Amino acid sequence: IRHQSTLVDGKKHAVDEWTNITPTISSLIGRNLHLQDSHPVGIIRSIIEKRFEGMGYTAYNNFHPVVSKHENFDQLGFPEDHPGRAKTDTYYINHDTLLRTHTSAHEVHCFQHTKTPGFFVTADVYRRDTIDRTHYPAFHQMEGARTWKREDYPSEEALIEKLRADVAAIPATNLIVEDVDQVSHPENPKSPYMSDTETELVAAHLKKSIELLVGDIFERAKVAAKVAGSTDPDLEKPLKVRWVETTFPWTTPSWEIEVWWKGDWLECCGCGLVRDHVYSASGLDKHTHFGWAFGLGLERLAMILFGIPDIRLFWSLDQRFLSQFKPNEITAFKSWSKYPGTDRDVAFWLPEGAALDSIHENDIMELIRATAGDLVENVALTDTFTNPKTGLTSQCYRINFQSMERNLENQEINQMLDAFKEMLVDRYGVKLR
Ligand code: PHE
Repeated sequence: IRHQSTLVDGKKHAVDEWTNITPTISSLIGRNLHLQDSHPVGIIRSIIEKRFEGMGYTAYNNFHPVVSKHENFDQLGFPEDHPGRAKTDTYYINHDTLLRTHTSAHEVHCFQHTKTPGFFVTADVYRRDTIDRTHYPAFHQMEGARTWKREDYPSEEALIEKLRADVAAIPATNLIVEDVDQVSHPENPKSPYMSDTETELVAAHLKKSIELLVGDIFERAKVAAKVAGSTDPDLEKPLKVRWVETTFPWTTPSWEIEVWWKGDWLECCGCGLVRDHVYSASGLDKHTHFGWAFGLGLERLAMILFGIPDIRLFWSLDQRFLSQFKPNEITAFKSWSKYPGTDRDVAFWLPEGAALDSIHENDIMELIRATAGDLVENVALTDTFTNPKTGLTSQCYRINFQSMERNLENQEINQMLDAFKEMLVDRYGVKLR
């Protein structure tokens, strides 16, 4: 039986055919890991906020995760057919309301209301995804943005002079910025309402600000890695970064910064110069305002900096995890020995005539989360084939059950597995093999 409304964080919302939020997901709302001084997510947030103290940024840390589709997508200029909007990727409360998928959902509001030139927004965000050690349906992002107003300056020359001074005021880092051999995207041009010089200077301000942020965080991570006994020679050298062009619906040009860390280029942070439609949506005259914005995934960074091997740990209430961290310090995580995991296969035939992609992988993941929660480490679609005689298609998912806190009993695993299979048959009409 479908209920007419659902409770999300104590508030009633109408449900419709878009509703796909589950109690497992709702229960994560309000944990506020980013507000805890001794939690890795909170530590990274406060290190960054402190680094930019006195530089004109207001920090917002209490925005509620339930936002409108309009705020999360439309206002920012996401096209109607953008994959991020799909029900398979986003938790909808109903057609008009959802759990924010990124902190950019608050950009318009902040541009409208912030009195300082810049702002930060740190918050929990939600995305439907696969299950493995680096993906969890809730995680945290930090948004940063900065604006200049033409009307604050008597002339274009005065504005340019101020931009130059603002760029010069950002402390330089000893990062090595590698050249990227990349042809400019034709779909990543400068905004027509900004001059070449303005574009160049705002881009320089953005890049220097992010280099400052990344440099500060990774210098601390190097120290932590050395204290923990790492002898990686890269730890003795200045950090290498590079800027790679990309696109976002509400910034242009746009980039991603990548950091060279333990032998890999690591994508860290998407950013760009804010498009004029964001300012006009904020009720600001689009041709008098311009600036930049970035978005940073905090768990991803925290896993690397603290050496945290499994993203589920961030949500753990185990003291062996929580007691390890101190405010404002990046320290290497000491893991306890891993409890054994158990692989179980679930194979089934799709209903007759059903297309191969008729059940989205993320929908399977959601059923597993609903039945086993954080006791699953990894899920993989391991096999798909179509029987040439019957035309029926079979799929097999391999589920790795593993607790971070204790040994799991076989009986317990079987119960979760049975519940999952029952829901699978119920919901999708598959035939178990
Ligand atoms: N919101 C984007 C993301 O989640 C990151 C971003 C923020 C990009 C701000 C540009 C400007 O990937």
